[in-house]
Amino acid sequence: MADTKVAIVGLGTVGTGVARLLLDHADRITRQTGRNVILEHVVVRDLAREREVALPPHKLSDDLANITNNPEISVVALLMGGLEPARTVALRILESGKDLVTANKALLAEHGTELFDRARELGRSIAFEAAVAGGIPIITNISQCLSANQISALRGILNGTSNFIISRMEEQAMSFAQALAEAQRLGYAEADPTMDIDGSDAAQKLAILAHIAFGARIHWTEIPRVGIDRLDSTDLQYARQLGYRIKLIGLAQLSQGQLEIHVSPNLVKIGRPLSEVRQAYNAVTVEGDAVGRLFFHGLGAGRMPTASAVVADLIDTITGRAPITFRALDLWSHRQSRVDRCDHSQVMGRFYLRFAVADHPGVLAEICGVLGRHRISIASVIQHEATDALDGYVPLVIMTHAASEGAAEAAVREIDQLKVVRAGTVRLRVLGG
Ligand code: NAP
Ligand code: HSE
Repeated sequence: MADTKVAIVGLGTVGTGVARLLLDHADRITRQTGRNVILEHVVVRDLAREREVALPPHKLSDDLANITNNPEISVVALLMGGLEPARTVALRILESGKDLVTANKALLAEHGTELFDRARELGRSIAFEAAVAGGIPIITNISQCLSANQISALRGILNGTSNFIISRMEEQAMSFAQALAEAQRLGYAEADPTMDIDGSDAAQKLAILAHIAFGARIHWTEIPRVGIDRLDSTDLQYARQLGYRIKLIGLAQLSQGQLEIHVSPNLVKIGRPLSEVRQAYNAVTVEGDAVGRLFFHGLGAGRMPTASAVVADLIDTITGRAPITFRALDLWSHRQSRVDRCDHSQVMGRFYLRFAVADHPGVLAEICGVLGRHRISIASVIQHEATDALDGYVPLVIMTHAASEGAAEAAVREIDQLKVVRAGTVRLRVLGG
């Protein structure tokens, strides 16, 4: 049986999982590819660091040339994070005549066009199943299995760290900081966890999904995004009383031919599948005109689930399936966006509003007056007796009927100016659809 030699750059959380699958389960990889797949070399940054996988010393180095100068290596898994030197390393791998597999969504969201153009020029391929939703095969499903459909909506929990933090705050009454530290210890978080908690990581993944599903060319920084970094456990509790859970949702959907796209914490009705997604799990609901509604669920972060997606890409690249798909899809080319974005201020939705108000007569009327002037109708109100007063202010929670994003934002801005309200009103979307 013929040999195929592969290499890895980066032996951290994901790289270690990939090396383990390649070394410990060579038999099943051989069965899938019809070849002996040999892990020929691994490049890391710090050779002194202790590793959780045993490799012969000659197979581990800190010199990329050991991969790029080896003509026997045909595919490389790039499993380091960040933009540079990841971008330069990716280009060097492609230019040395090797196909690329990567889990680095930041790199694709930022430099996808450059890398994909270069790969096309060189006749090479890039596969990136692990870049979105970890172990869930969402890229393959949307780009291949659902290609007969016009996708109309994607709604997803795309960041495992955020979902883990929210779950821990809800279920174990952990503080935000404790839950984040645990997510870091378990290898879910990015090297800089800011990207996880401020919605950037989810926006990068949503930009990739929207590109594949809708042909949208939207840079991730243009996606309106709010993270969980300011989420207060008070809101988790009020949401629960109202029959909802809070989830960080990435949403992209067609509305009258235009694309609505954003990332934000949403109240999700308890009982809907997305509300039941816990810990580091991710989930994506996809709606297609032929297939209807599909729900994908699985671990979105962590060593082995992510390695599962990377090794599947390695197998697909070795068998030739990934290069065919890569050529056929023409992703990140200079083609025009197939869809325009709608004006975010016109996006409709219901809102959860939590005000801190002085417990005086007429306060509710003042707030309702402002909402009314902005044509925002109230669906329900919660105000408990003043036992939870903080500095003389009590929480007042209002759920609205559907209103535009712009109207809700303007109304809250105006209400925050009222003498009887402490500024900093919490405004969260309620997931519709
Ligand atoms: P990680 O644990 O921080 O590991 C990164 C690895 O890259 C380390 O082994 C590091 O080497 C190596 N590295 C960094 N700079 C390098 C350089 N200049 N040359 C060679 N190697 C270098 O990161 P990770 O969690 O495995 O994530 C890797 C990628 O997968 C990221 O893009 C991340 O967004 C993505 N991803 C991660 C997960 C997850 O659950 N962790 C899931 C999906 C996607 P040293 O070990 O020597 O420092
Ligand atoms: N940091 C990412 C997350 C890893 O928590 O979802 C998976 O992309």
